Amino acid sequence: MNVMSCDKKPVPPEINKLFVSYETIHKLVKQLSTKVLASGFDPDVIVAIGSGGFIPARILKTFINRPIFAVGISYYGIDNKHREHPTKIQWIDEVQQALRGKNILLIDEVDDTRATLSYCTQELLKYNPKEIAVLILHNKLKKKDADFPVEIQKYFPAREIPDIWIKYPWDAIDIDQQCLEEAKQIEESKKFQEK
Ligand code: G4P
Ligand code: MG
Repeated sequence: MNVMSCDKKPVPPEINKLFVSYETIHKLVKQLSTKVLASGFDPDVIVAIGSGGFIPARILKTFINRPIFAVGISYYGIDNKHREHPTKIQWIDEVQQALRGKNILLIDEVDDTRATLSYCTQELLKYNPKEIAVLILHNKLKKKDADFPVEIQKYFPAREIPDIWIKYPWDAIDIDQQCLEEAKQIEESKKFQEK
């Protein structure tokens, strides 16, 4: 698998929850879209893994204007514990014909254990697409529980980070506080990286 270049700036060890704003996500998705097009991959469709991939997918459409198909896959149950395996909440059976022979750009917010992404790519390969490229905002550098199928050759993470929890803006109850926290962390990180 070709892992495309990405932001590898170190995160200071005192940051154990990384706050991210909508503005930052918009910029990360824009950078990813540029890299996808520069790689020569010409997507026919975007597939968003919900729910975390929905907002990144819509932003991506601004830069790569293709139809978005959505799949809902959940790994955490309502008790916030991992289920035994990723589970389909919603799938795209009615449009599976539309994926045959097509280039699919699969987008999600985070590559954590890789279980969901591995499962989802395996399921999508059953529809005989031409190629699947995977886009991710954050890849956590850790031992993964699952691998991508060998057919997945293009993998675009926007940022590589240590194994810490990411606070996405769509989970924020107070979005102003979220932006303040992110700004503080960006300052801390700059100082850390200058050291
Ligand atoms: P992966 O294949 O992408 O590595 O994902 P994995 O199955 O390991 O787990 C994915 C679930 O864990 C997703 O939730 C994802 O949102 C959540 N997750 C993992 N790390 C983080 C993190 O650092 N911050 C946040 N906010 N979420 C994280 P899910 O239950 O599958 O669905 P959904 O939240 O996307 O709806
Ligand atoms: Mg997700």
